Amino acid sequence: MSSKTVTVTDPASGNTAELPVVEGTVGNNAIDVRTLAKQSGYFTYDPGFAATASCSSAITYIDGEQGILLHRGYPIEQLASKSSYLEVCYLLLNGELPNSTESDDFENIIKNHTMVHENIGRFMQGFRYDAHPMAMLSATVAALASFYHDSIDINDPEHRQITAHRLIAKMPTLASYCYKHYRGQPFVYPRNNLSYTENFLHLMFAVPAEEYSPSPAAIRAMETLLILHADHEQNASTSTVRLAGSSGANPFASIAAGIACLWGPAHGGANEAVMNMLDDIMETGETIESTIARAKDKNDPFRLMGFGHRVYKNYDPRATCIQGVCHDLLDELGGDQPLFQLARELEEAVLADDYFKERKLFPNVDFYSGIILRALNIPMNMFTAMFAMARTVGWIAHWQEMHTDPHFRIGRPQQIYTGPTRRDYPGA
Ligand code: SDX
Repeated sequence: MSSKTVTVTDPASGNTAELPVVEGTVGNNAIDVRTLAKQSGYFTYDPGFAATASCSSAITYIDGEQGILLHRGYPIEQLASKSSYLEVCYLLLNGELPNSTESDDFENIIKNHTMVHENIGRFMQGFRYDAHPMAMLSATVAALASFYHDSIDINDPEHRQITAHRLIAKMPTLASYCYKHYRGQPFVYPRNNLSYTENFLHLMFAVPAEEYSPSPAAIRAMETLLILHADHEQNASTSTVRLAGSSGANPFASIAAGIACLWGPAHGGANEAVMNMLDDIMETGETIESTIARAKDKNDPFRLMGFGHRVYKNYDPRATCIQGVCHDLLDELGGDQPLFQLARELEEAVLADDYFKERKLFPNVDFYSGIILRALNIPMNMFTAMFAMARTVGWIAHWQEMHTDPHFRIGRPQQIYTGPTRRDYPGA
């Protein structure tokens, strides 16, 4: 909290409210409005919270105008090219990069939690064969709470830590179970001699009938996708996890709420929506020009999936990283070159169009990720589950940070009421 204050004056009554200024290490400062209503009788009004800081956080910082994304101060471009997903997990959870001993210990801890109770597998087999993976994942993560009665005391730091480890370790197993259920193939057990990402690809694509060994290019592409999706400040799903957790809900229930929110096409579901959009253009022969015209037509609910962002009013730095990975992967593994070419032509046309330039609508993280996932033979209905798997560490890092925040309290926004005033029931 700084010593600075801001004075708000109500011209109707002449009353003033003096409000403290909250300063961070970088980025916008904020006006602490917690006493505004008491001093002035006014609430603040901010649908979608686009101008509201819901908390203070030291985990991730985004500068939307400059297209900057930092995790505990480290630029995403450097982490994507030099780090590993588990090292980024350690960084997000602990605030510092691990030394070699800490890194080995963390990797071993995660490896020792990759299996799930056999009953979880039986639970997942109860879904229809064509159940959407996000329906299965959100339900199953919530159900994990029923297996860990010994460690869901949210006030116990050790319980919070082991739950973080369990969730990071088990998400690849659970995500792969969703895929195997859908394919009608047997669930594959984790292999502790493999790296986190290689183990995930093994869980997804190994079959009892033959050996499976993913290419180094596929492992690196998947690792980069996981790093790029690990955390992103107070996005809709992270804010959902914080709000759910603020009631004291156990971490499994809180993360399940985040998974449900991420499913939406305006958020985590966009990578699936991007591929549907590109496939439609390819299959219908619709031109890029007519697609862009639809996206600009206010009478048409269609929006260009993969473009625009609540915060980035410049390039999403993750989109730049992903475009490079996409290019290298398709060169090495092959894959849908025409679709990648279409994506690049669409991006070029959008960036040249005044409507999008004026609104600073650039490609976001989801625009190219679907092409990479398809090149890795991951089916479209699994795309958002991949996002959820990667973002679990961000969600749990924010959930943990909230529980150690001295300003922590249950979330309970106000409203501007526009309904009828008091009226009597007929005959009352
Ligand atoms: C993610 O928050 C995060 O950090 C999210 C995320 C993360 O890592 O957690 O980065 C992941 O969710 C990325 C975003 C993925 N979603 C999409 O790609 C879906 C398409 N994008 C849009 O739905 C939209 O851009 C949002 C939801 C991402 C942002 O919505 P906003 O901030 O509410 O944008 P807006 O409605 O204020 O847009 C301003 C203008 C509007 O037009 P006008 O009223 O000014 O005339 O831009 C238009 C919008 O109609 N617009 C678009 C558009 N996005 C915004 N027009 C066409 N196509 C689009 N994609």
